[in-house]
Amino acid sequence: MSSERLCRTLLTLTAVSCLALRNDPAAAGSCYGLGTTATEAQISALDIDVRPDGQGLPLGRGSVEQGATLFAQVCASCHGARGQGGPAERLVGGIGTLATPQPVKTVGSYWPYATTLFDYVRRAMPYDKPNSLTADQVYALVAYVLEMNGIVAAGTTLDAATLPKVEMPNRHGFIVSTPAPEASSSAPRERTTPVVPRS
Ligand code: HEC
Repeated sequence: MSSERLCRTLLTLTAVSCLALRNDPAAAGSCYGLGTTATEAQISALDIDVRPDGQGLPLGRGSVEQGATLFAQVCASCHGARGQGGPAERLVGGIGTLATPQPVKTVGSYWPYATTLFDYVRRAMPYDKPNSLTADQVYALVAYVLEMNGIVAAGTTLDAATLPKVEMPNRHGFIVSTPAPEASSSAPRERTTPVVPRS
């Protein structure tokens, strides 16, 4: 057997034996001698997605006023003191501009769900230290960003029950462009395909 054929045969055999082992994570780890089985703690640290309806929101709460203090400390250097933008994009304003020749897309004007703001800030911000904020801090920051956009009032406190009830200005600005494959014909699922919003 040529060395090239031998090599190919060995690769195939390895792949087959790995397939046979795939239901046994410990054994699979030894297949290539790589990796370890993730622990429950490691998995739950990464399992932090929050869905539009609020599923996945953690316990905790935070107010506009707490958010204002925190925003000045950890966000303003990049986004501006009132979220007007700085080295990083603006988070405030633009509501009502999307259908104009100069649309200004911000969290306030564009994002359809307030719950997504929680998910995003928790997993991605501050940019230089993502996933470092507590749930209370994220609720407070979300409340403040929404307040700066005029979406919630000063004095508002948000938590897992109240945040999903916040209606974003562009909530109904996304239309179904094509039915999702799994949708039944009678009830097409909503898709967030960006389109020119309804005026
Ligand atoms: C070191 C600079 C920096 C800091 C500090 C920072 N951000 Fe950001 N932020 C960014 C950058 C850069 C982006 C764009 C990231 C991208 O598009 O991938 C961003 C994007 C965002 C967005 C999404 C904006 C949009 O319309 O897409 C939000 C919301 C946000 N940041 C909130 C925050 C909050 C709240 C804090 C404080 C906890 C914070 N950021 C701190 C740099 C920063």
